[in-house]
Amino acid sequence: MFVLVNLKTYPCDSVAVAQAAAEVDETTDARIAVAPQAAHLEAVAETGVETWAQHVDPIEYGSNTGHTLAESVADAGAAGTLINHSEHRLTLDAIDGSVRAAERAGLETVVCANNPAQIGAAAALGPDAVAVEPPELIGSGTPVSQADPDIVSDAVEAAAAVDSDVTVLCGAGISTGDDVVAAGELGSKGVLLASGVAKADDPAAALADLVEPL
Ligand code: G3P
Repeated sequence: MFVLVNLKTYPCDSVAVAQAAAEVDETTDARIAVAPQAAHLEAVAETGVETWAQHVDPIEYGSNTGHTLAESVADAGAAGTLINHSEHRLTLDAIDGSVRAAERAGLETVVCANNPAQIGAAAALGPDAVAVEPPELIGSGTPVSQADPDIVSDAVEAAAAVDSDVTVLCGAGISTGDDVVAAGELGSKGVLLASGVAKADDPAAALADLVEPL
């Protein structure tokens, strides 16, 4: 299972969380990655943990003030990027452009979407993976695998119907090892989570708990 921890703009110590993630990663078969803010990518990558960007823009080198260039994210040490997170929605055209920009820079891609229908559309753009996250459950502490398991299994079906190479992650409210196991049982190959680790008093313990049953 892939455990991708999005630090959003939470006021956590991104390097400390990354160090904890790198340590826990050594103890498990799960794959753990951390997605800090763009400004923290390099410092997080230096911890040795697999590092992801939260976003890249559909642009090339040039006149794009304030945008995030995929090549710069890769140069900072990122291995992949989220695209179209619920908190950073893009047009379909921009999602496509961001996936192409990420591919150009050698970044792995996860395109986020709200529901199975959008997952099908996202999968059609050819990312490496898609992540289904019902917005109303984000940050709720109630796992999607429990609140609405059909969303996960339907998303897996929707992605497979379009492109069997696109794997599916799920997210929203995931905070325990049981949640990760439940996600796997529904056909998800990983989880995308944030508050369960980034807002935990002890992020290392939270991460250890997440991967303990895997
Ligand atoms: O990117 C992950 C996120 O949107 C889910 O947030 O806090 O419910 O784990 P959270």
